[in-house]
Amino acid sequence: MGLFPAMSKFIRKGKCLFLLLLCLCVVAWIATLSNDDTVEPVQEGSNPPEDKSVEGFAKLELESEMMQSIEERVEEQAAKESCPERSPLLRGAFKLSFDPSLKIGQVESENGEVVEGQYNPSDCTARQSVAILIPHRNREKHLLYLLYHLHPFLQRQQLHYAIYVIHQAGDATFNRAKLLNVGYLEALKDHSWDCFIFHDVDLVPENDHNLYMCEDQPKHLVVGRNSTGYKLRYKGYFGGVSAMTKDQFHKVNGFPNSYWGWGGEDDDLRIRVTLQKMSIIRPSPEVARYTMVFHKRDSGNQINKDRMQLLRRTHQAWKTDGLNSCSYKILSVHRAPLFINITADIGRPEHAH
Ligand SMILES: *[C@@H]1O[C@H](CO)[C@@H](O)[C@H](O)[C@H]1NC(C)=O
Ligand SMILES: *[C@@H]1O[C@H](CO)[C@@H](O)[C@H](O)[C@H]1NC(C)=O
Repeated sequence: MGLFPAMSKFIRKGKCLFLLLLCLCVVAWIATLSNDDTVEPVQEGSNPPEDKSVEGFAKLELESEMMQSIEERVEEQAAKESCPERSPLLRGAFKLSFDPSLKIGQVESENGEVVEGQYNPSDCTARQSVAILIPHRNREKHLLYLLYHLHPFLQRQQLHYAIYVIHQAGDATFNRAKLLNVGYLEALKDHSWDCFIFHDVDLVPENDHNLYMCEDQPKHLVVGRNSTGYKLRYKGYFGGVSAMTKDQFHKVNGFPNSYWGWGGEDDDLRIRVTLQKMSIIRPSPEVARYTMVFHKRDSGNQINKDRMQLLRRTHQAWKTDGLNSCSYKILSVHRAPLFINITADIGRPEHAH
């Protein structure tokens, strides 16, 4: 997306540069030949003509060698310019493991190329730069399992990516949507990410053909999970894991900030998307499969009883409730080896019902 035209422009430029170099070499070579001709009478006797032709031949060979190496370098750079459309590292479905004795140190040593939560392929330029945003509170074990599986998964997809964990400070009811707005706004301070993945901490992808990349429409990545028999929870479901470009998310004014507790905020985002005449696309059900790590509903994340009422006003409220009204205070940004931990005070519900 947007990368490709830039790349072909670069290649075109590289070709022009190469042609220019070629011309210069030929001109320089002709110049040295004619120079030799003019000095010939002076050096007569000491330099037999046969030697000179051999010298000229060697020079020609040397120059063609030089040009070849320039050509090689131009080709090499073009190869570095963009990762292939389909990563050769993908493995398809793989078996997930959830070892209770897993430690963060092990995950760190298995992902030595990840620096402060960020990775960039060394042998090619990634097609997209992707920020993974994970809203979080008190789910340390889930986070560990997700990091363990997600880092190698994303590296096999040859993405430039970073994982952000947005940690809600305080004891107010959990607000997934607002934390994702905070993650989006804060991640953009690090890098102009092309694509954002809104990711629940307890969902682990089972197949690396489920690409964590954005497309020309918002994308929903969880068609099925083991807890629902791998069926879409309901028509229009847009929760769990979803992908939107920076522009798509900006256009809908992000998530609502006013959903405290469990449920509704993902339906609100779907309404925002359809109000902007965008549609939701999904990968095939064979690919878009997740394992949900078992858990009870947390205290502090009770079902949001206001959600139906809130959803009825979305078609108006989206303009004023979203990125443009997201007020929060960053308490800390800690760059751990495998993720960026953003701790934010996002306030509490304005009025209790
Ligand atoms: C889904 O798989 C996870 C990991 O194996 C397991 O903990 C969980 O109980 C499974 N859920 C269902 C409903 O089978
Ligand atoms: C993130 O940082 C906060 C504040 O230092 C800390 O309480 C929290 O446990 C950290 N989260 C993780 C997952 O490390």
